Amino acid sequence: MAHTDEPSGTRRDFLYFATAGAGAVAVGAGVWPLVTQMNPSADVRALSSIDVDISGVVTGTQLTVNWLGKPVFIRRRGPEEIEAARAVPLDDLVDRDARNPNIAEGAPATDENRTLDAAEEWLVQIGVCTHLGCVPIGDGAGDYGGWFCPCHGSHYDAAGRIRKGPAPENLHIPVAQFIDDMTIKLG
Ligand code: FES
Repeated sequence: MAHTDEPSGTRRDFLYFATAGAGAVAVGAGVWPLVTQMNPSADVRALSSIDVDISGVVTGTQLTVNWLGKPVFIRRRGPEEIEAARAVPLDDLVDRDARNPNIAEGAPATDENRTLDAAEEWLVQIGVCTHLGCVPIGDGAGDYGGWFCPCHGSHYDAAGRIRKGPAPENLHIPVAQFIDDMTIKLG
């Protein structure tokens, strides 16, 4: 496993290279190739489940991993982010579905229903804009302190919920769980 600094942003985000030749994740405004999402190659399918070491992710930073050909953002949120995300009324949301396959289908998009742990510190999301598939910029970007997609101007909040712009849905959450304090299993 190797880490390198993300090329943009004021805080340190980290780019994680998945093992077994899955390759690096493009972070920024690039369009994630839809063909890769729909038709993964054999070696990608073989990685349908990966364990991610999160021991190096300090509060206020994000790890990006490549999983099934898509970037997955694993963010360890700070108290301000958690507080801001919790404070948003459901009525203010464009998409009120949590988009979280780890809980009941159609559950409301509260911060509690979007995060992976009881403290609502860890937010794990598929890093693909729900408009046309660009990779949003993170680290508190955009008007709502979360992620911003520069392709057509979609703003996501600190819980990855779409708040402004053409994207129709919140950033999707992958199948994920903690298997110990410092390891998250995707898939
Ligand atoms: S692809 Fe993100 S706003 Fe269009």
